[in-house]
Amino acid sequence: MILLGIETSCDETAAAVTLDGRKVLSSVVASQASLHSQYGGVVPEIASRKHIEAISSVVKEALKQAKVALSDIDGIAVTYAPGLIGALLVGINYAKGMSLSLSLPLIPVHHIRGHIASNYIAYPDLEPPFICLVASGGHSHIVFVKGYCEFEVLGKTRDDAAGEAFDKVARVLGLPYPGGIHVDRLSLSGRPDAVHFPRVNFDDGPYDFSFSGVKTAVINHIHTMNQKGQGLNKADIAASFSAAVCDVLVEKLVAASVYKKIKNVALAGGVAANSMLRRRLLKACDEKGLSLYLPPFELCGDNAAMIACQGYYEARDQNFADLSLNGYASRSL
Ligand code: KG4
Ligand code: ZN
Repeated sequence: MILLGIETSCDETAAAVTLDGRKVLSSVVASQASLHSQYGGVVPEIASRKHIEAISSVVKEALKQAKVALSDIDGIAVTYAPGLIGALLVGINYAKGMSLSLSLPLIPVHHIRGHIASNYIAYPDLEPPFICLVASGGHSHIVFVKGYCEFEVLGKTRDDAAGEAFDKVARVLGLPYPGGIHVDRLSLSGRPDAVHFPRVNFDDGPYDFSFSGVKTAVINHIHTMNQKGQGLNKADIAASFSAAVCDVLVEKLVAASVYKKIKNVALAGGVAANSMLRRRLLKACDEKGLSLYLPPFELCGDNAAMIACQGYYEARDQNFADLSLNGYASRSL
């Protein structure tokens, strides 16, 4: 089955072609990040307009690179939630137009399901059940993946997502948007134990996260140091902040896998690219005898290959949409 995937939930216009779910024939991503960076974050109106400009050529390029004709495609998989509404609607309407004109099935894909599916592409033998930590700019979820289309959310963030915290801390450190990668790079030359930032736990939600406190603690630390006239060691702050975030992500992911007695553990989402997270998780999984699946960097951030891959499993479960398909800013998994 050859599927075209379309992803426009945030600031990446992406299209991809996959064969039987896991084989990627092409994956094209047009990022708007440099455009939004001058505003310090994604401007929704600009994102929608840029998607409109890019979508046609991105889809054409994906078909060209895959060496497939429109007549070879068996279905169109598109992200319908969660995300920026105006941005989602561009991809959804483009997919609807293709579905109508080519008489092809329309397959709605939840963005987080797509992130989880990025691991199927990277690891052809990986099958549910497994536990997945999805950490991105908009989400931080620990998910029990029971089947390809069956999920149990064990925990999620109660305030900021992990990536959002990285981006906000990057901003106060004077680093460009999106800041996660810059904090990551800076942290390599800092000491993770230089400043103790809080690690938050909840009695009534052992797998839930909270990252707004650690972000505020970083801001307060910078103010205090400035008031005292003491110089800032930005690398130490970046490393100590990263350690606080990574510690809770690793601890809760491992605890969830022990609780569910599931030995396969995976990572997904933009923050999955974080070097400290990958290092610490590898160590923790090694110590606990867990098998860890880390997606390659090109599949961590938003892309359409993961959408087409998940679309294959949605289609197998007969999860199709008609032309009334809408976009949703938030939608449960
Ligand atoms: O999955 P993604 O591309 O988009 C969303 O669905 O949100 O994730 C983007 C997020 C941003 O917050 C970005 O700063 C973060 O992932 N990110 C990182 C790294 N690379 C990207 N955070 C920490 N370390 C990184 N190396
Ligand atoms: Zn994403």
